[in-house]
Amino acid sequence: MDKEILTVENIDKSYEKKLVLQNINFTVYENDFFFILGPSGCGKTTLLRIIAGFVEPDRGRIILNKKDITKTPPNKRNIGFVFQNYALWPHMKVIENIAYGLKIKKYSEEFIKKRVKEIIEIVKLEGVENLYPSQISGGQQQRVALARALVINPQILLLDEPLSNLDAKLRDELRREIKRIHKETGITMVYVTHDQKEAMTLGTTIAVMKDKEIVQIGSPYEIYTNPIDIFVASFIGEINILKGKIVKREGDLLKIETDEGIFFVKSKKQINSENVSISFRPESAVSEEKINVIKGKLHDYEFYGDIVKINIITQKGNLFKIGVYTRDFNKYKKEENIIFSISEDKIMIFEQ
Ligand SMILES: Nc1ncnc2c1ncn2[C@@H]1O[C@H](COP(=O)(O)OP(=O)(O)O)[C@@H](O)[C@H]1O
Ligand SMILES: [Mg+2]
Repeated sequence: MDKEILTVENIDKSYEKKLVLQNINFTVYENDFFFILGPSGCGKTTLLRIIAGFVEPDRGRIILNKKDITKTPPNKRNIGFVFQNYALWPHMKVIENIAYGLKIKKYSEEFIKKRVKEIIEIVKLEGVENLYPSQISGGQQQRVALARALVINPQILLLDEPLSNLDAKLRDELRREIKRIHKETGITMVYVTHDQKEAMTLGTTIAVMKDKEIVQIGSPYEIYTNPIDIFVASFIGEINILKGKIVKREGDLLKIETDEGIFFVKSKKQINSENVSISFRPESAVSEEKINVIKGKLHDYEFYGDIVKINIITQKGNLFKIGVYTRDFNKYKKEENIIFSISEDKIMIFEQ
C-alpha cells in the first residue's frame, strides 16, 4: 500500500463574495508526481498557496504525513515551493539564495556547505555559484529556485507553473530536468500547470480542474483515453465531436444515429439519456473502410514534421481532424475521396 503524504480535504475558498475553490479533495502518495491541470483562473495557484500555508481556506483540512497542518504557519510546514516568477533575492549570490533556507534554520556552517554542494550538483548549477540572479539565464534562475526549495529536504515540493516564463526550447530542457530530479531524489511533487503536455509527459497522476472544482483524477492514460466529459476530453488533447441519438442498446454495444450515418460504439459507461455526443481523437481514425466510416475531401492541413493533421470535410459540411504520417501524406493529397473509419472501442461517448 502506498504511503499517503498529502491529503486535501473538503477545501472551500472565497475572495470577497466570489467562490474560487469548491470542495477540493485529493490524496498524494509518496513519490507521486501529482499534477493539477486546468485553464487560467480556475483556482490552481490559490489551491497551491493553501497547501503551502500562504492562504487560509474557509473550510476543510490539509493533512501532511498524517498531521493536520491547516493552522500551521508556512515556515513550520516543511514544504518546498517553486514560484512561477522564481522569486529569487536579487542582492544574493546563487549560493546564498540556495543556502538561505538552511541559514534561517540555523544549521552548522559545515552542514550547509555540504548540503548546498549536493543540491548544486543535483540541479547542475556548477560554475555559477558566485554570480547574482541577474547574471544568469532564465533557465538557470529556475534551477536556483528549484535548488532553494529542495535544499531544506521538504516532505513535498510544490511547483506553480515553473516553466511558463521560459521559451519553448528551454521549457523542454527544464521539463526533462525536473523529471530527472524527481526520479533521482524521489521527492513527492505537486505541480500546477495549464499546459497539458507538461502534465501528460511528467505526471503520475493528473487532477483536472475546471472553474474552481476538480472534475477528474487519474493517470495520464486514463484521463486521455477515458475522459469524464467533453471539457476534459478537449483540454487534454484534440477531439472530433458528433451529436447523435442512441437507437439500440445491446449490452456494451450502442447503435447511434448521427447526420453522418450510423455509428457503433462499445462503452462500459452508464449512459442514461438517448441524446449523446460521440467523439474520437485524430489518431484513432484509420484509413480503411470497415465499421464507422466517414467519407470526405481534404479541406486543409497542419504540418508538424513527423505527422500531418488533416481536416476532412464531409458532404454534410462537418469537419473531422485526423492524423497521418508525413510519409503517407502525398497519397491523401491526391485522393479525391478520403475514407477512414474508427473502431467501435475508440469512440468516446458523452451524455448531452
Ligand atoms: N488575493 C486575491 N483576491 C481576490 N481574488 C483573487 C485573489 N487571488 C486570486 N483571486 C481570484 O481567484 C480566482 C482563481 O485565481 P488563481 O488561483 O490565481 O487561478 P489560476 O492559478 O488557476 O490561474 C481568479 O478569479 C482570481 O481572480
Ligand atoms: Mg496561477
